[in-house]
Amino acid sequence: MKAAALLAALLVLAAGRPSARADDADPFVARGREVYIREGCIHCHSQYVRPHVAADVERWGPASDLGQLLAERPPLPGNRRQGPDLARVGNRRSAEWNRLHLAAPRAVSPGSRMPGYAHLFDGTDASDGEALVAYLASLGADTIPARLTAVAAWRPAADAVADPVRARRLFQQLCTPCHGEAGRGDGPLAARLSVRPPDWPAQGWRHVAAAADVELALARIVKFGLPGSPMAGHEYLPDADVLGLARVVRSWQKP
Ligand code: HEC
Ligand code: HEC
Repeated sequence: MKAAALLAALLVLAAGRPSARADDADPFVARGREVYIREGCIHCHSQYVRPHVAADVERWGPASDLGQLLAERPPLPGNRRQGPDLARVGNRRSAEWNRLHLAAPRAVSPGSRMPGYAHLFDGTDASDGEALVAYLASLGADTIPARLTAVAAWRPAADAVADPVRARRLFQQLCTPCHGEAGRGDGPLAARLSVRPPDWPAQGWRHVAAAADVELALARIVKFGLPGSPMAGHEYLPDADVLGLARVVRSWQKP
């Protein structure tokens, strides 16, 4: 079946179902969903982790429940996928990161092609932005413990080979806005964050336990971020790059 025909069939099916939306309980979250629809986020974002698609499940967790999707009013599987699937974005992006990102995507996600939505935060009704942030936080919030378990079990593929030159360039491009050129936590965005990035040469690690395998612990943070923090994951990077970046970070610490 063609994608458009499939979507039409889904919408017909959905029309006859009772509503069972998680956000029914919270009017502010429900309003955020309206903002999501109004702003056309569905033109670039799906909320459907496809069954039988290994890459989907690997990156975003178990396949979405079709019954649950169809119970929504209206269902938001998305029109096409230009950016990441958002079905469970609440388990991986903090409210603070979402605010910074929506206002100016390229500030926290260099090279992003997502348009900015600063108007939602400073227009006549500035709470539209906050409602949208609350809605994003609600998506998959119940899957946070499962994600933490998966993160703790993750390790890079055994055959991943880091390229140090490429890793330096990636650090420069993706990390210096917050971490600064020399990992001192003094990038141009740092002063605007609720928590300062660590000054690695002076202070060492903040989130790596003394007994831990340092490189692995850093790689997990680079890939999956820190929960509730402006430090977001880079889930889309191949393991070789994650490993390379972990080594760059490690190199900042004084001997
Ligand atoms: C023109 C396409 C486009 C539109 C429209 C768009 N986005 Fe995005 N979005 C992207 C792309 C591409 C990325 C990946 C790069 C990045 O992080 O900015 C992204 C990333 C994201 C992320 C980060 C997800 C993750 O796991 O990294 C969130 C959250 C998000 N968008 C929310 C929204 C919301 C909410 C709207 C509507 C207000 C929206 N986007 C509209 C293209 C789009
Ligand atoms: C939007 C800002 C921002 C960006 C971009 C960012 N970070 Fe972070 N990062 C932070 C903040 C803030 C912290 C500290 C968070 C805390 O303590 O809660 C942090 C913490 C970390 C940690 C934990 C280190 C420790 O001392 O335990 C690692 C590792 C890390 N970042 C690596 C990276 C890498 C590599 C990149 C680029 C691929 C990157 N970060 C991009 C803001 C950012």
